[in-house]
Amino acid sequence: MKKNRYRLFAIICFLGASVSLQAQDSLPTDYLSKDFHAGRREALRKLMPDNSVFIVMAYPTRTFSNDVEYLYHQNPDMYYFSGYKEPHSLLLIFKEEQKGIDGAVYREIIFVQKKNALAEQWTGRRLGIEGAKEKLGFKYAYNGEDFKNAQIDFSKFDKIIFDRFPENAGNNSRDKADLSDLIEQFKLIAKIPGEISKDSRFDNRLFRELTGRLREIKTPEEMDLIRKAVEISCRGQNEVMKAVHPGMGELEIQGLHEFIHKKYGAEGVGYGSIVGAGANGCVLHYMENSKTKIGTELLLMDVGAEYHGYTADVTRTIPANGKFSEEQKIIYSIVYEAQEAAFKVLKDGAKWSDASKAARDVIADGLLRLGIIKDRAEVGTYYPHGLGHHIGLDVHDRSSSQTLKKDMVITIEPGIYIPPNSNCDKKWWSIAVRIEDDALITQDGYELLSVFAPRKVEDIEKMIAEKSALDKFTVPKLKSAEKKAF
Ligand code: GLY
Ligand code: MN
Repeated sequence: MKKNRYRLFAIICFLGASVSLQAQDSLPTDYLSKDFHAGRREALRKLMPDNSVFIVMAYPTRTFSNDVEYLYHQNPDMYYFSGYKEPHSLLLIFKEEQKGIDGAVYREIIFVQKKNALAEQWTGRRLGIEGAKEKLGFKYAYNGEDFKNAQIDFSKFDKIIFDRFPENAGNNSRDKADLSDLIEQFKLIAKIPGEISKDSRFDNRLFRELTGRLREIKTPEEMDLIRKAVEISCRGQNEVMKAVHPGMGELEIQGLHEFIHKKYGAEGVGYGSIVGAGANGCVLHYMENSKTKIGTELLLMDVGAEYHGYTADVTRTIPANGKFSEEQKIIYSIVYEAQEAAFKVLKDGAKWSDASKAARDVIADGLLRLGIIKDRAEVGTYYPHGLGHHIGLDVHDRSSSQTLKKDMVITIEPGIYIPPNSNCDKKWWSIAVRIEDDALITQDGYELLSVFAPRKVEDIEKMIAEKSALDKFTVPKLKSAEKKAF
């Protein structure tokens, strides 16, 4: 009896402790609201053709090593329309109200991961049906395993709108409702033909078109998060500028950026951080970041914090020793002027192609003037990419427009990259400059969201000269590095 009473007491204490632990959990308070996601579904419904259904699937999970998975990243479309962040899930949005066999009337259904205490002990809490109802505001939420029995009659729809299926949704034979099962069941129930382009009822193109039209225009709630992501990325650039010195390594610089992102609550990065010194900056998506001493060359840092799903994309190119050399300054100034020329074009209704041409012309003129190219047509040798792209839930965010519209958020990122052994004077070799800023398009112009990190030569040099909390930060030499085994 005594023992039992003690046990009961222990259980109550344990429950009390876990309840209070949960209550004490201090979590961010600025996630997108369930009204935001409901509003996006409603906006989608307005664009959908009559008698259609729209299906979104989660992204697959990925193996890192053996039984270890990569940190999961939700399909941005799933997140946008539901707020659900877990894998193995499926969302259906109907244009018109549907009647279930039980008389229920619904316009959307979400199928989520089933709650499972054992799995949750290893890989984290699941929202489950109740969570999807309570936290995400879905009236109709079911476990993934119920999808095959949901008796949705797809044959009656004129349009079944879905994205291309992920190619690598590996099937876990112990889970009968993983993404691969959901896809197979959907194909079977909706009778998806092998070649969907031959049947106009099935539409992938429309999926991209509709999601592009919605996602390219940012709502005020999205802007709150994008502004934070961009400012945080700028703060990272600034702290690196203050701390940088030629003895640092590319990885160390990457770590510093990402530490600052996390210090401000950004969960991750929107793409692999690109930190390249000298010739490494010429590799456009360089992510090895393995050079141990950046030296006195230019350091190109293309880094974007991801804050509650929304990513920034900000590039600064700086001299690690604090002063641009004459050659570095000349190339930097051309890129800066190219960016300024593109900025002048930006406003509601402007064409991407006009902004691109404005920047490309400045770079072509500059390279011709310096004798680095002999013909304007060669400009692509040293400026081999486009002017920019939309940002949002993807770093290269979805869009369906060739023109710029109010409330779009884009990057403007001209660059010049001169690898060693290029066909020009040696003094230009290994200079790589990209300047990338994030801009909100307004009625008459734009707002520079990444205004928090300096872009001008003199402002960058001033920032590098500032003191850093890291100036006195040293770590002891590794004992294990003293002896070499081979
Ligand atoms: N930040 C990398 C890119 O825009 O491609
Ligand atoms: Mn970019």
